[in-house]
Amino acid sequence: MTGTPADPAEETVLVVDFGAQYAQLIARRVREANVYSEIVPHTITADEVRAKAPTGIIFSGGPKSVHVEGAPQIDPEVYDLGVPVLGICYGAQLIAHQNDGTVGRNERGEYGRTELTVKDAGGSLLEGTPGTQTVWMSHFDAITDVPDTFDVIASTPDAPVAAFENADAGLYGVQYHPEVVHSPFGQHVIERFLGDACGASQAWTMASVIDTQVELIQQQVGDEGRVICALSGGVDSAVAAALVHKAVGDRLTCVYVDTGLMRKGESDQIVETFERHQKIELIHVSAAERFFEHLQGVIDPEQKRKTIGEQFIRVFEAAKASVEGAQYLVQGTLYPDVIESGTSDAAKIKSHHNVGGLPDDIEFELVEPLRSLFKDEVRAVGTELGLPDEIVWRQPFPGPGLGVRIIGEVTPEKVAVLQEADWIVREEIRLAGLDREIWQAFAVLPGVNSVGVMGDERTYADAVIIRAVTSEDAMTADWARLPYELLDRMSNRIINEVAGVNRVAYDITSKPPGTIEWE
Ligand code: XMP
Repeated sequence: MTGTPADPAEETVLVVDFGAQYAQLIARRVREANVYSEIVPHTITADEVRAKAPTGIIFSGGPKSVHVEGAPQIDPEVYDLGVPVLGICYGAQLIAHQNDGTVGRNERGEYGRTELTVKDAGGSLLEGTPGTQTVWMSHFDAITDVPDTFDVIASTPDAPVAAFENADAGLYGVQYHPEVVHSPFGQHVIERFLGDACGASQAWTMASVIDTQVELIQQQVGDEGRVICALSGGVDSAVAAALVHKAVGDRLTCVYVDTGLMRKGESDQIVETFERHQKIELIHVSAAERFFEHLQGVIDPEQKRKTIGEQFIRVFEAAKASVEGAQYLVQGTLYPDVIESGTSDAAKIKSHHNVGGLPDDIEFELVEPLRSLFKDEVRAVGTELGLPDEIVWRQPFPGPGLGVRIIGEVTPEKVAVLQEADWIVREEIRLAGLDREIWQAFAVLPGVNSVGVMGDERTYADAVIIRAVTSEDAMTADWARLPYELLDRMSNRIINEVAGVNRVAYDITSKPPGTIEWE
């Protein structure tokens, strides 16, 4: 997966990544201001920038000092393109450094909340914000001087040039981080840049995303093309299918493979939503038996993932043969996947499988209408397309399903126990109104029996682990501080309602060092 989405919007702001933790956050803030944004590497050339015809450019922060060897730079011709540039933190220092300003090494850095003093009513960038305000700082070097053509519009005790602008040259910089919530006027400043400096129309909405994508899908698929989409029950494939259906109508066929490893009620819900409500042609393959057969004796987590992935492909290929003439395959690839695949040489932790994990040699042209979107934007598109909340707001669910939440061999009996326990966990979370705060909450069957006493009888039965995490993007996660009363209810219900379980434990491991799933 490489490349960028074709023409996803008329106005684009490029966020140049200088190795910041915050590049994605900046891109999101720009989108929240209704301007489409894309992250690009700092190695982008002026010609490449020109070809993208951006409305504005934002330089992100970064961990380096402009003075060290190998510090990331930008092609200086970018400054001559007539496109307004806003630099943030390292980005601001780089603008100063490359445009005859001075960046000095401070005696000490500024980290965390800092008081900013605004000068000259804040120039155009900080206009409308208070004379003193809290901003979030995270820097060691500081800009100490800028050429006369620049106006210094704010300072802090350790950053004499905490914000500057040269409106004629279209150059703006802030030493602090306007993209984080700890800078209360940050979003206002980003919007000043977009609206005032760039003249962006701020018309990018989910409705406009749908219109654009429908048009692009129609162009790609033409008047005759037939499309298939593998539904996983997850948000991404559901929204992608609904979007493609809007574009090509009954030339879309969805394939839903019931692996037998789905959550309780999941298969019925998919049929109900897609066939009945959305009126999308659905091939529903019940393949549980086949999956259980192949999973017999499989204990190793990676082997399990591979087995499930492989069987999924076999079943899908058989199903697709019944859709005559299909040349196009829908995939719910999201923007973070696109960004990551461009940069990632990280160690492999798990062989991820999802409906997108189909083999490379599959003979389809891919349709990826969500390639430019973040997860919350995909949810908003889903709602706009009329998908029900139960689909749009469902938790992420791994491609190998409950198979990676059962430690040891996967059997139909164990899946049945886990489905019941998992149902209770999710229902209690929903009843507590925590659905949207919790990234994922589910049950795990660790394959451990323990001794208990129920009704004066000795028991020797399964333990269930409750796993609930909060997260922004699943790259890192924290165990959710669920109220004791809620944990108590879950525990009582699981033991009383799920036969064969006599003990419940709560997983208090964050990621890292744990992963969200157990396998
Ligand atoms: P881990 O366990 O690696 O999971 O912390 C991170 C997120 O990814 C989900 N997950 C998967 N999603 N195919 C998927 O589509 C997979 O094979 C897979 N494995 C894990 C997991 O539920 C969590 O949200």
